[in-house]
Amino acid sequence: MRVLVTGGAGFIGSHYVDLRLKKHPQDQVVVLDKLTYAGNPANLKDAKKNSHFTFVRGDICNAKLVERVIQQHGIDIIINFAAETHVDRSILHPEDFAKTDVLGTQVLLEAVRKFKLKRFLQISTDEVYGSIEKGGFRETDPLKPSSPYSASKAGGDLQVLAYRHTYNLPVLITRSSNNFGPRQYPEKLIPLFVTNAIEDKPLPLYGDGLNTRDWIYVEDNCSGLDYVLEKGKPGEIYNIGAGNTKTNKEITSAILKLLKKPCSLIRRVPDRLGHDRRYALNMKKTRDMGCQTQWAFTRALQTTVQWYLDNPQWWQPLKTGEYMKYYKKQYVDRHRK
Ligand code: NAD
Ligand code: DAU
Repeated sequence: MRVLVTGGAGFIGSHYVDLRLKKHPQDQVVVLDKLTYAGNPANLKDAKKNSHFTFVRGDICNAKLVERVIQQHGIDIIINFAAETHVDRSILHPEDFAKTDVLGTQVLLEAVRKFKLKRFLQISTDEVYGSIEKGGFRETDPLKPSSPYSASKAGGDLQVLAYRHTYNLPVLITRSSNNFGPRQYPEKLIPLFVTNAIEDKPLPLYGDGLNTRDWIYVEDNCSGLDYVLEKGKPGEIYNIGAGNTKTNKEITSAILKLLKKPCSLIRRVPDRLGHDRRYALNMKKTRDMGCQTQWAFTRALQTTVQWYLDNPQWWQPLKTGEYMKYYKKQYVDRHRK
């Protein structure tokens, strides 16, 4: 199989590339990635040693490039991780999100149609369902996204479903919950708080800290979506969660405890605009298919914290960029007194 992994230089995509090369050693894997601030060639360090791997730098919105890559490499399937992914950035610059997450997805679908590819897997998110007070969303629930990020991801999903309905394309969608693990950009809650705590910097906890997410270890998500790719039915949507629903306060305490740092590092800061209160997924459909998670939350968090302790050369340079400066000014400096 010749697999095109778009967005494969990012956090989840790079873990999937590692899994794919290990689990399907006969495959050829091509990554197409624009290398935005979130894309990092260092994430593909191991993959680059494999003769079955190729990297192409480019934008999924560029239809000509996408077509050329598909033709040159004889691509059979596309797995689309490429997206703008950070909710806080989407509140500042919504236009980048609409472009990549909606238009980029449509460009890929058009290529799937033109070249009659065998499969297209869209990597989506639980955020498209919106917030839920109790229980978990099912795949059949209506979409009610609330941030420019989740609205753009929902737009991408709707394109995928429309291409299925209209052209009968062999598409699948996975919607996963909050991932964590090594190589996650240190703007997201867990890597930001772990790296700040390592450096004895404040941890900016939004609002009352009681917003809740279901946390899944990145390797479990990658195994899950690989499972769906093999066993899933074209045209179907599959939730991928772990059932680890935790408040941000609980996550913060667990990180501080693992690093033996004081609670005085926590800074209460103004809430995110339009902050969704709780995300949770009903996992019946995916579990009935035989798809299970392997990682217990505590061991996964320990492994993650240890990775950031062992790899400061990976994350330290990322914390000096323009956004991180803006972020610090916005949320931390104002509350330092
Ligand atoms: P990430 O921000 O770490 O990586 C995104 C990657 O996409 C980067 O390598 C970036 O360079 C690339 N990219 C961005 N725009 C591009 C474009 N126009 N053309 C080509 N490449 C482009 O993201 P992630 O956390 O690894 O998320 C991957 C996917 O999984 C996304 O689609 C996201 O919506 C989805 N998802 C993420 C989570 C999570 O918790 N991180 C949860 C559910 C779903
Ligand atoms: O649910 C899946 C989604 O999870 C993915 O689709 C997104 O790509 C990914 O970014 C993530 O979105 P969240 O907004 O849930 O993740 P984030 O890490 O930004 O925030 C997690 C929670 O922590 C959220 O309630 C906001 C809070 N938070 C976050 C940051 C960055 C803080 O309290 N302080 C912070 O500094």
